[in-house]
Amino acid sequence: MREAPIGVFDSGVGGLSVLAEIQRLLPNESLLYVADCGHIPYGEKTPEFIRQRCSVMAGFFREQGAKALVLACNTATVAGVADLRRDFPDWPIVGMEPAVKPAAAATRSGVVGVLATTGTLQSAKFAALLDRFATDVRVITQPCPGLVELIESGDLHSAELRQLLQGYVEPLLASGCDTIILGCTHYPFLKPMLKSMIPADISLIDTGAAVARQLQRLLAERDLLAGGPNQPVRFWTSADPAYFKNILPLLGQSAGEVQNFSL
Ligand code: DGL
Repeated sequence: MREAPIGVFDSGVGGLSVLAEIQRLLPNESLLYVADCGHIPYGEKTPEFIRQRCSVMAGFFREQGAKALVLACNTATVAGVADLRRDFPDWPIVGMEPAVKPAAAATRSGVVGVLATTGTLQSAKFAALLDRFATDVRVITQPCPGLVELIESGDLHSAELRQLLQGYVEPLLASGCDTIILGCTHYPFLKPMLKSMIPADISLIDTGAAVARQLQRLLAERDLLAGGPNQPVRFWTSADPAYFKNILPLLGQSAGEVQNFSL
């Protein structure tokens, strides 16, 4: 069981930013990654639809013998993690949500910005997160429609992307925030561009590394950490596998086996 793989999924390539953190912290683990690119963007879908996709993914990874599941997607987590934990109470499941707690602790100006999908920002789980951890700070939320689609197309540098991103960042800067939460796993790929448009003393916070640490904790508690050596990552996509294979190196992964995910 220790050598069984870990299932990781996102609506698309965003979860690769989390996969990289897991690879860094847990190099002995074998990883399976499903990109549900055929249903992107989750951020503009209904919670019911996303819950149904989460359940399909969980069923698939169970069949593959995964010893743990990582929802490398904020939007999927806010919609679906509670149902998954109810349905699979003994399975280690790691979800992720915008880093409101660390951002509230870190801000000096008392103003925190959140870039995330519409679905995440409208969710009850996000509202509860603000009630719990952000009572003493001002939180400015900014949905970012269109960013995910550009990143999925392999665009991390174009003028079109810059213009769209600038429009989302401007209101946060104008409100005096000194800490910006990247509340969608696609956005860490935009860090170089973001850094070029914000003052150097504004911090960008994402949760990929924290997710990897939480996964490590859950596996260690159950004596499930792999001893290695690991197997190469196996990828699936619900869109075009050849396209996905080409985009992997752009996003920091060495090209691997990519299969069609048709569920
Ligand atoms: N990567 C996802 C997240 O963390 C969502 C992207 C999408 O809208 O599909 O929220």
